[in-house]
Amino acid sequence: MYSSKVIGLGKYVPERVVTNEELTHYMDTSDEWIRERTGIHERHWVEEGDGNNTASMAAKASRIALERAGLTPKDIDFIVFATLSPDYYFPGSGVLLQDMLGCDTIGALDVRNQCSGFVYATAVADQFIRSGMYKNILVVGSEVQSTGLDLSTRGRGVSVIFGDGAGAMVLTRDEDTSRGYLAHSLHSEGKYALELAVQTPSNRVPTSKLLKRVAENPDDTSFYPYMNGNFVFKHAVVRFQEAIMEVLNKAGLTPQDVDLVIPHQANLRISQFVQKMLKLRDDQMFNNIQKYGNTTAASIPIALTEAWEEGRIKDGDYVIQVAFGSGFTWGANLIKW
Ligand code: ACO
Repeated sequence: MYSSKVIGLGKYVPERVVTNEELTHYMDTSDEWIRERTGIHERHWVEEGDGNNTASMAAKASRIALERAGLTPKDIDFIVFATLSPDYYFPGSGVLLQDMLGCDTIGALDVRNQCSGFVYATAVADQFIRSGMYKNILVVGSEVQSTGLDLSTRGRGVSVIFGDGAGAMVLTRDEDTSRGYLAHSLHSEGKYALELAVQTPSNRVPTSKLLKRVAENPDDTSFYPYMNGNFVFKHAVVRFQEAIMEVLNKAGLTPQDVDLVIPHQANLRISQFVQKMLKLRDDQMFNNIQKYGNTTAASIPIALTEAWEEGRIKDGDYVIQVAFGSGFTWGANLIKW
């Protein structure tokens, strides 16, 4: 058996910064409401003509991660790509990234687990490395969410929280099994699938019928994200804690042993609540939702990269990635750096 070592991290966000104040031009909201309820000050959104899409932003983040790892795209054996906003309904974005980077004809797997996507993607990549099947794997989370949001007041409960961006991580095979990813926890509860979902386009609705429905009913919002915010919030604060405790228990550790938690940046109040319940110090919790909003599958690799760039992660540190989101899905990964 082997272990997986992180040898490169990279992030990319579009240049366009969208402040809370700018959102007040599109919908009935305020900077004060958004900051108080979510912690978000601004987010980055793609703009027409800037060349950014889910795959191209992933490629930008990946090139940085590869350079830091001292590898080239030819050294990568496999791609795991997490996103809820793929470039196309099909094929997935992983193959587009494989082409953009100029990798060999390696496998590329798309993971569709929304906010938990990067946690799932990390666990999948780790298994391929542990088993010896692959040596170097590129794990990516990338999202373009702004183009699919309802920017009217009707959609304000959802639209103010989401941002665009990408993060990438290069994992490599290591002989030292006392280091690297030590434990994973992965969960789902599909009975709540529609509490946070985009319902169309869907093969449950014939395309011809959907086009007619939308043309006849301007209030059809089935193709915008729906989120039962309060309900999601209440589940998130519990599941975040459970997932953290599960990976700690598997490794025989306690919250006091953790050097840094990288939570999915869903809402600052969720992170603060989890921090309080687990009695974690401020320096044990990483938050950057203030600058980027909720970038779904990209939020953990963006935060991990930023934490590493700021020198917040040192050799031997225990770091936890943890997420909850649509599905419902949730989970965590524990790594000894
Ligand atoms: N600006 C101003 N007022 C608003 C806004 C807004 N942007 N959005 C909602 N409101 C209003 C509502 O209309 C409501 O008004 P009312 O009391 O007159 O009816 C009031 O504010 C309170 O609305 P709530 O929805 O109860 O607000 P809440 O405090 O729950 O915050 C939020 C909403 C931020 C969405 C929160 O519920 C949340 O963060 N939920 C969890 C999100 C999350 O973790 N998602 C998972 C990841 S996402 C993924 O997986 C894709």
